[in-house]
Amino acid sequence: MTPAVVLIGLKAAVALATLVLAAALTALARGNPRLHGRLNLVFVSLVLAALAVFELAIRLVNPGLMNALWGDPGVRQGLIIHLSFSLPATVFMLAMLATGVKRRTRVHKILAPLFLLFWIGTVVTGFFFLPNEAAPVTQASAPRN
Ligand code: HEM
Repeated sequence: MTPAVVLIGLKAAVALATLVLAAALTALARGNPRLHGRLNLVFVSLVLAALAVFELAIRLVNPGLMNALWGDPGVRQGLIIHLSFSLPATVFMLAMLATGVKRRTRVHKILAPLFLLFWIGTVVTGFFFLPNEAAPVTQASAPRN
């Protein structure tokens, strides 16, 4: 799995998840909270699946990928800014799921703008602050014919 496949794959997954989230918010605006809940279950599943694949990719398949990203000073700064949105976004997403499922509507509505802020930040910084390619550090040690 090359760095480009991982990076572009993650961006595609985030774009798809954002479309599902937009559909969930549209369902809510149209007075269908049940559909809102169902679509948001799909949204959460997509995000968690993308994170799981990404973890597998960087830990098992291509451990050099994160070194390649953190090793580039230009990319490193973008990565830090991106993580400062994406890590809170993940926590808020799980809190939104928990409060939605338990019908803790008041807390759910209070958390909603915060979650949206961090999610939008995650999407914008993921797309515009992170590259689609990284120097594949591990290939240097690949066997030659
Ligand atoms: C970001 C803006 C959001 C707003 C304004 C919002 C608002 C609401 C409202 C008003 C309800 C109806 C509550 C009730 O019937 O008592 C609801 C239900 C729900 N929400 Fe959200 N929500 C948002 C995002 C999310 C997200 C991101 C998730 C999941 C990660 C989520 C998961 C749910 C679930 C599971 C339900 C229960 C649906 C059901 O009744 O079957 N919501 N939401």
